[in-house]
Amino acid sequence: MSTYTLRAANPAKTRCDAVVVGVVQGGKGASGPGIAPGGEDVAKAYGRAFRPLLSSLGVTGTAGEVTKVPTGKQLSSPLLVLVGLGRLDKGEQPSATAVRRAAGAASRAVANTASVALALPTDSVELVRAVTEGFMLGSYAYTAYKKKADDDSTQQPGEVVVLCSSARKKDVGRAFEEAQVVSEAVAATRSWVNTPPGDFTPPAFAAAVEAAVKDTTKGRGPKVSVRVRDEKELLELGCGGILGVGMGSAAPPRLVELSYAPRKAVAHLALVGKGITFDSGGLTIKPPSGMNEMKSDMAGAAAVVQATLAIARLGLPLKVTTYAPMAENMVSGSSVRPGDVLTMYGGTTVEVLNTDAEGRLVLGDALVMAAEQKPDVILDVATLTGHMVVALGDKVAGVMGSPDVVDDVLRAAETAGEEAWPMPIPEHMDERIHSSRVADLSQHDWIRWGGGLFAAAFLREFTGGLPWGHLDIAGPAFNSGGPSGHLTSGGTGYGVATLVDYARALCNVGG
Ligand code: BES
Ligand code: ZN
Ligand code: MN
Repeated sequence: MSTYTLRAANPAKTRCDAVVVGVVQGGKGASGPGIAPGGEDVAKAYGRAFRPLLSSLGVTGTAGEVTKVPTGKQLSSPLLVLVGLGRLDKGEQPSATAVRRAAGAASRAVANTASVALALPTDSVELVRAVTEGFMLGSYAYTAYKKKADDDSTQQPGEVVVLCSSARKKDVGRAFEEAQVVSEAVAATRSWVNTPPGDFTPPAFAAAVEAAVKDTTKGRGPKVSVRVRDEKELLELGCGGILGVGMGSAAPPRLVELSYAPRKAVAHLALVGKGITFDSGGLTIKPPSGMNEMKSDMAGAAAVVQATLAIARLGLPLKVTTYAPMAENMVSGSSVRPGDVLTMYGGTTVEVLNTDAEGRLVLGDALVMAAEQKPDVILDVATLTGHMVVALGDKVAGVMGSPDVVDDVLRAAETAGEEAWPMPIPEHMDERIHSSRVADLSQHDWIRWGGGLFAAAFLREFTGGLPWGHLDIAGPAFNSGGPSGHLTSGGTGYGVATLVDYARALCNVGG
């Protein structure tokens, strides 16, 4: 564990093992790469030798570029790390996104130092947040199953000092503290997603949530209540979607409910997350290549739970009710079959036609429960469809639902530094979801095109007409490539920061 402090100090005179500064590529009206805001004192310490130094090291300032330089006696710290921020026109400020990514890249370059000072751009609260989140998330590593967890790539510096000239300002200090709360929630989400699925069955996931709630609320922590419903209770309640999907697994399904209800709440937000702890596809089995990353099919549930705990830790004046339906979608003699009809919580019947479209079944039950609470708005987060990955790629979430809610979610994603894009729910989808000859709804209709939009239209049936937003995070929830910027391999924790920013904005409107 690293400790983070915020300080106003001269980076050239700060005594740490390493000091990190940003370099920008020369944009319009600039000659060659130059030092980014925050690093001026370091450039000054080198004086006229700084530009030739950059040039002979081949430093260009391209985003993601990291260069390590021994400082000799030029700075109080023995190592200078130059990190690229990308192209910037003269007079322009670096964006929070560029700074977040650069801080992440730098974090992996100083993994085996004991202390590091970050002299990156911190001229605004957004940038202080970006530096802190970028560094904390970039240095995330999942080591629970490594015999030897101490190789260079998984070490973290003991002490991280974020340098900022306005460190003593109240809003800056608050942004710094809040960034740490959000980053811890993102990191916890990543670890849940990264846990091998055999060790993270629905009962194990539910127990992990209970432990996380206990940890958050202990001592002087906020009040969050948790309730875990087992398969017997789900049967009594009539949660046919969750039970139907879970039927083929040796591990029984669960439904986890969280509630954070501060006395001065100005609005009520309901969150619902898809918690398929492993998605084999069921009898409509996936091809091997499609099954590889399916331990990540609970990323939506992990994100809504961790966002709820972060909102509570931040003390936002908002009531949050969260539902995480958990099931394992497996192949066995007791699996749900194509052609079976499930009766969902609330009584709607659904004809199952493809057991691999299981997410919408567990979400249906949970959305009806969420709607029963009459919240001001419902958001669901789900690794729902491969169609969304085809449409938007593996870094961008699709956002659907009530137009106003979609707008607000997109705005929150923007401030959170997560990529999202609006998608429609076309009128004709309504006909398609009502095309079953035997049940109220068809779960699937074998027309491949627009499958992500069909899924959203299906979910909408369970939202009771309330304001609702749906985030399909099938692409961005998991990074199958190597680390890049603040993203590491495996679970990304996508959605947590967007949900927290959405909650913040809701408090400002409501109060
Ligand atoms: N969990 C998958 C969606 C998914 C795909 C997540 C790729 C992450 C990466 C989901 O349960 C699924 O299998 N969806 C089907 C829906 C189809 C049968 C209508 C799909 O995308 O093919
Ligand atoms: Zn799935
Ligand atoms: Mn599936």
